[in-house]
Amino acid sequence: MNAKIAASILSADFARLGEQVNDAVAAGADWIHVDVMDGHFVPNLTIGPPVLKSLRATTDLPLDVHLMIEQPERLIPEFARAGADRITVHVETCPHMHRTIQQIKELGVKPGVTLNPGTPLDTLQEILPEVDLVLIMSVNPGFGGQSYIPASTDKIARLRKMLDEGGLTGVELEVDGGIKSHNAAEIVTAGASVLVIGSAIFNRKASVATNVAALRAEIASLAY
Ligand code: DX5
Ligand code: ZN
Repeated sequence: MNAKIAASILSADFARLGEQVNDAVAAGADWIHVDVMDGHFVPNLTIGPPVLKSLRATTDLPLDVHLMIEQPERLIPEFARAGADRITVHVETCPHMHRTIQQIKELGVKPGVTLNPGTPLDTLQEILPEVDLVLIMSVNPGFGGQSYIPASTDKIARLRKMLDEGGLTGVELEVDGGIKSHNAAEIVTAGASVLVIGSAIFNRKASVATNVAALRAEIASLAY
């Protein structure tokens, strides 16, 4: 059992973003997770395609773009051009999800779909065969540093079962929000393949290297 770590730059020091990303790369993060917020779908504003373009020039690691924006189809081409490897959209923002997923694929980007904590897994049923990744939000999106919602673990286990029973074992099962050393193992055991981690990596308590090593040790303790 192994899982990848996607370092979420939302909790990084944006005044020295390149340096912080390089720290995460050196520490062994697998992906860089980029949270895009529009102040409408979620009550916060973050970054857009120009910053993603600068990140693309900084690292070769996969850039995992999480769009928390209304009408994402309007900006998907810009994020693809800026260098996204994966683009994930919310079921709550996409009435024409099949079309949006095809749009992402046609731009040569791997598509992902995500759902808020209050949105049931049923909403994924028809789209699962079309995606590269499913992201389970384990906090209500908008801010870093929130607490993991305990019911997420059962939701992850039920999604793992849906993927396995559907023969979709190649689809990444990513989890986002409130992941720390103390619950990383539980989340991977439930079936996650990618952990999005922000504040437990980018904080002032310890270096990025120390934080990633501690998380990696928790995940590795499950290896068999
Ligand atoms: C929340 C974002 C997350 C956030 C997670 O809306 O989607 O990616 O950075 O941060 P932590 O790990 O601090 O919960
Ligand atoms: Zn995110």
